[in-house]
This record gives sequence, structure tokens and C-alpha cells, in this order.
Amino acid sequence: MNKFSRTASTAHAAPFAPADAGRSVDEITGGRRMRRMRKADWSRRLVQESHLTVDDLIWPLFLIEGENREEPVAAMPGVARYSVDLAVKQAERMARLGIPAIATFPNIDRAKRDEAGSHSLDADNLINRATRAIKAAVPEIGIITDVALDPFTSHGHDGILRDGEIVNDETVAQITAAAVGQAIAGADIIAPSDMMDGRIGAIRDALDRHGFQHVAIMSYATKFASAFYGPYREAIGTGGLLKGDKKTYYIDPANTDEALREAEQDLAEGADMLIVKPGMPYLDIVRRLKDTFAMPTFAYQVSGEYSMIKAAAANGWIDGDKAMLESLLAFKRAGCDGILTYFAPEVAERL
Ligand code: PBG
Repeated sequence: MNKFSRTASTAHAAPFAPADAGRSVDEITGGRRMRRMRKADWSRRLVQESHLTVDDLIWPLFLIEGENREEPVAAMPGVARYSVDLAVKQAERMARLGIPAIATFPNIDRAKRDEAGSHSLDADNLINRATRAIKAAVPEIGIITDVALDPFTSHGHDGILRDGEIVNDETVAQITAAAVGQAIAGADIIAPSDMMDGRIGAIRDALDRHGFQHVAIMSYATKFASAFYGPYREAIGTGGLLKGDKKTYYIDPANTDEALREAEQDLAEGADMLIVKPGMPYLDIVRRLKDTFAMPTFAYQVSGEYSMIKAAAANGWIDGDKAMLESLLAFKRAGCDGILTYFAPEVAERL
């Protein structure tokens, strides 16, 4: 008779009396106890594998035209768009907090957007003016500029739209010219986020031909056709404009080998750093890229990820501070060298 069959015959007796427990825990584990090192704060700190520091943070900064303007982004509590003069103040604040770099994203006036995103080529566009002003005032902070056409197009796509198609090669030519303009303005790192084929090689060639060998390329190598970009599209004012989706150029969220091939291609063309975007739902991609290429690897904790944590915290459903820190630590554990995150100033203050 085993201890289970006894339950039926003596229903009133405790079915699993301690004396009946069988092997001791030490017999089961062979004397190994994982909880030994978890017993106190000091021992947990000693064995902690991943650490989040202020050096891991890149702050995305939204720009608007005008002066002395700070406009909250409704879908991203705590995030605002800044006119160039206030963006400079924010960059100063980030430098004081020890944040190594910022990444700028412009909300371009509707009147300046067209089918081809031609205002991206204007040396005096919002993004280039911000770069010049920030470089002049805060030379010690790194400036990463995004070169996709979506802030500049009347349809919200990252490329030039012709007969219902996002045309690859023409788009590459245009973002390459825009990238050179950004380097002239003083960008330290060019971050192409458009996912056109051949853009990294074209931009590297053009930068080198113009004497910008020192300007790095941070490739949004694995950018997925994701639903998590929603709040960002409100922030730069493309939400209502976008027709259709970006599935013909961003990666299918179902694919991981394809992400690996995309990263391999970008590295072959001259990318210095890789970004995985979005972040948290794609930690497996981070780990694969890091293990395969051993390159500087970053994740973009995108707007939707930020807003989910903020919204749940505002409702009292999660502890916002703890969720923020845990999410960022998870990127480090997955193999990230750094994270683009809207939490950057909040975290830096806490660290
Ligand atoms: C497009 C771009 C996107 C983001 C930054 N640049 C994606 C998109 O709108 O399709 C998203 C950033 C975020 O969600 O925080 N070049």
C-alpha cells in the first residue's frame, strides 16, 4: 500500500503526515541549497551577476519648433517635447546626471512634411538645429540622431512612397544625404531606423567621403513591425498620418533567424553598434545577437513599454519604480551594453 491509496480508506487522517514525507530535502538535493546565497542582502549583493548603472542609459528626446516650449506627451506620462532652447537645458541636466548620450526625435510641423520627406535634407531643420545648439552648450554629451524619413513624410512612413510602395533605393539615397547633413551639424552617432536594404553601407561610404570617419553608425538592425510604438507616433505627430503598416520593411515579430541575418548584413556594411527594437518582448533577440556577434548591443525600450509600466503604476496595479528598475536590469541580463529608455533621467536620479 502506498501513501496515496491510504487517503481513501482513512479519510479523517492527515493524508501526508510529516513522518510520512519520505526522503529528506538534503537527500533530494544532494545537499545543494540554492537559497543559501539568497539569505541576506549582503550575500545577494555578492553574487549579483548583472548591474544597471547610469553608463547604460541613452535618453530619447523629443523636439518641437518654437521657443521656451515644453509640451507633455499625453500617452507618455512624464515625457515632453521641448523646443531647442529647452532641449539644451534638458541635455545639460542629463550630462549632470551622468547620462552618456541622448537620441533626438523631431516633431516636424505638418506644413513641412511632404510625400518624399524632403525637409530631412534641410541643413536647418529641427533636428540639425538641436544638434548644433546642444553640441555648442553641452559638448560632453553624445548626440545620436535618427535618420528615418517618418517625421518628415506626409504619410508617416520611413521611406519614400511611390504607387503604394516604399521604394528602397531612392530612400537610401535620401537618408544617406540626410545622414551627412546630421554629421555636419555635429552628430556623434548616426542611427538609421528605417530598415531599408543597403542603408548602412551607403551611409558609411558617404560619411567617409565627407571626412566623417569618426562618426559612428548605430544600426536599428533588428526593428520589428510592432504594436508597441503607438505612443511614440503621438509624440512625433505621425499617429494620425500613417496609412497602412510597416510590414514591408520592418521584421515580422515571429522571426529570429531573419533578425540575425539582418544584423550580420549591417555589420558587414559597417555598423558599429546594434539596436534591438522594441526591447522587452525581444530579449531573446538581444541574447542571440550578443552571443553571435559580440558587438556593442543595445535595446530600445520603446514608448509602449514605457507607457504600460506608467499606466499600471498610475492605477496602483504595480510598483512603478520597481518595475522600471527590473525591466532595465533584464536588458543587462539579456546581454545589452545599454538601453535607450524614457526612464533614463528617473533611473539616473535613483542610481
Ligand atoms: C521610426 C521610429 C519608430 C520609433 C522611433 N523611430 C517606430 C515607428 O514609429 O514605426 C519608435 C520609438 C518608440 O516607440 O519609443 N523610424
